[in-house]
Amino acid sequence: MKESARQRLALLRERINYHAHRYYVLDDPEVADVEYDALFRELLELEERYPDLVSPDSPSQRVGGVPLAQFQQVPHRLPMLSLENVFNQQELVDFEERLLRFLKACGPLEYVAEPKLDGLAVELVYVKGVLTVGSTRGDGLVGEDITANLKTIAAIPLRLRGSDPPELLEVRGEVFLPIAGFQTLNEQRLANGETVFANPRNAAAGSLRQLDPQIAAARPLDFFCYGVADPNQVPCRTQIGVLRYLQTLGFKVNAKATTCRGVEAVAAHFAVLRELRQALPYDIDGMVVKVDSLALQGRLGSKARVPRWAVAWKFEATQATTTLIGVEYAVGRTGAVTPVAILEPIQVGGVVVRRATLHNEDEIRRKDLRLGDTVLVQRAGDVIPEVVKPIAERRSGGEQLIAMPTHCPSCKSVLQREEGEIICRCLNPACPAQRVRALIHYVGKAGLDIDGLGEKAVELLYEQGLVRDIPDFYALTVTDLTKLDGWAEKSAENAVAVIAASLQVPLARFLAALGIRFVGEVTAQTLARRFDSLEQIRAATLEDFLDVEGVGEQSAKSLVEYFRNPHVAIMLDALVTRGLNMHVQDKGVSPLTGKVFVFTGTLKSFSRDEAKSRVKALGGQVVSAVGKKVTHVVCGEGSGSKQKKALALGLPLVSESDFVRLIHDAATLSQRDES
Ligand code: IVH
Repeated sequence: MKESARQRLALLRERINYHAHRYYVLDDPEVADVEYDALFRELLELEERYPDLVSPDSPSQRVGGVPLAQFQQVPHRLPMLSLENVFNQQELVDFEERLLRFLKACGPLEYVAEPKLDGLAVELVYVKGVLTVGSTRGDGLVGEDITANLKTIAAIPLRLRGSDPPELLEVRGEVFLPIAGFQTLNEQRLANGETVFANPRNAAAGSLRQLDPQIAAARPLDFFCYGVADPNQVPCRTQIGVLRYLQTLGFKVNAKATTCRGVEAVAAHFAVLRELRQALPYDIDGMVVKVDSLALQGRLGSKARVPRWAVAWKFEATQATTTLIGVEYAVGRTGAVTPVAILEPIQVGGVVVRRATLHNEDEIRRKDLRLGDTVLVQRAGDVIPEVVKPIAERRSGGEQLIAMPTHCPSCKSVLQREEGEIICRCLNPACPAQRVRALIHYVGKAGLDIDGLGEKAVELLYEQGLVRDIPDFYALTVTDLTKLDGWAEKSAENAVAVIAASLQVPLARFLAALGIRFVGEVTAQTLARRFDSLEQIRAATLEDFLDVEGVGEQSAKSLVEYFRNPHVAIMLDALVTRGLNMHVQDKGVSPLTGKVFVFTGTLKSFSRDEAKSRVKALGGQVVSAVGKKVTHVVCGEGSGSKQKKALALGLPLVSESDFVRLIHDAATLSQRDES
């Protein structure tokens, strides 16, 4: 009995999956809805009778699941990168030139041009052909486990089609809400007295962020895949080949992806997509251009957060006109005072804009903006809205000039404009506005990302005198918090626990959270890789910082100045007393760890950039000047003074062929380690 149920279930699953693929992916159903429904009903009945026969890839598992308490974090095995933008054909030409220089090749190159879908990037992990985990991009390194929500999307296969799936396949693509679904959803929400979503992207994001998968199941989310994390997992040599292969596995691939030879063909396809944009049933915000050859992609590699082998070519910004009704001045955490336009609220590209940056005084003068002007406002993608220009023809004569403040709007100290700077600054380190912004930064996304402490909460805590400096966060009690407006016991308890937990933090994160001028996430990570502890960084000199590849002069100076400040020293000591405990990242041992390279002369087989990036990818360091720490002096053709100096210092010289062999051996070694 049970055996025949098992067989019947296998058959039902196969047939349901087949018809679902025809319907949702190919948009070409073979059977009427009633027939499909009958198969599904039979499956549900049988599974109900034999619950132990329910498999994770059963079509019944799409809409199942109980609400989660919270999302789990999932590290991506390989980082999910972002893309550099270009805005016109010339910038694309520059991109190609960079590629050709890097590869030491002659053009034109072969590309794949794909619509840039305006949804949310996700990763789907298939083990032996079965979907096991689906996650958001998160910060690119770690995302959130939204498997239950993703399983509700019919265009996402729970099991790969075909008889020979790869052992492991990490598929990447975009979840989106078609425009029609978005409109229906908003109509329903209006009818229910709920707030409406500003655009399909927000609606899709809101749906995936629900802990209850029933909500995602009720929304007509859709999915296009556009690549894999690791080309070694697929039997393909090109990006277009990957797309076709993914299609055979049952994924939806955007039909407007196409190969183009050379920049002009790419530009022609851009024009086609821009025309097509309005007619598409989903939002796109540009085009992604990728080098087609996977081998070349591999050679090009990636920079900090973006691949060298792809760019996004964005459509022009969306614009609208409105009235400039006022100007406010915002003080940032480094004291920079920026003018902000207060606008008559206006819809721009589907979002209501009330404020827009005016950048600085020079920009206001250059654009000749006046209070009361009708102004052109633009929003480009996720970028902060900005005022493009006044519409001078619409002036009535009553418009007023905009006066810049001479004193800090927060602490009233006199503002300074340093030489060569276009921004006025408040130099008072005790300025409340700066303090608050710095505290907000510390707990915010770019800092320690302490959940529960938003801007408003930090502002309140500051106003009440409960938090004036970073260590004060750690002295907060549940009673302190529940005294504030809108704080319940439970959320206060949570916040206190999360704050306490944030004392255990990776060094890089902590450094970024301090909000030191010119030290963002990337520099912080670079520093954490070179120094072993906060103590070492506190003790470092200007030269020590300058020695670190990737740390520029501005950052180095700013670091020294910051750590020399006695207030900072007291603050850091207080944190250490409170139990601040930084774990240093596992630096891993790569084949070239500890090796320091210097290049001189011209190499025949690589460009200088590619040679450097190869060394770095294998854990080595590249410096520009010959010094005692250098372990390899790579001499190409025509190497001159550096080679002499290296000889004088008795440093080991390496010929180009030795270097090529060394890189090859190191790469083989590191691949063996990975497998
Ligand atoms: S490729 C390393 N292809 O754009 C390559 N991305 O700014 C990275 N996106 O987070 C992604 N359509 O969400 C790629 N056809 C496409 C895309 C696409 C949309 C999004 C994706 C990513 C962002 C990059």
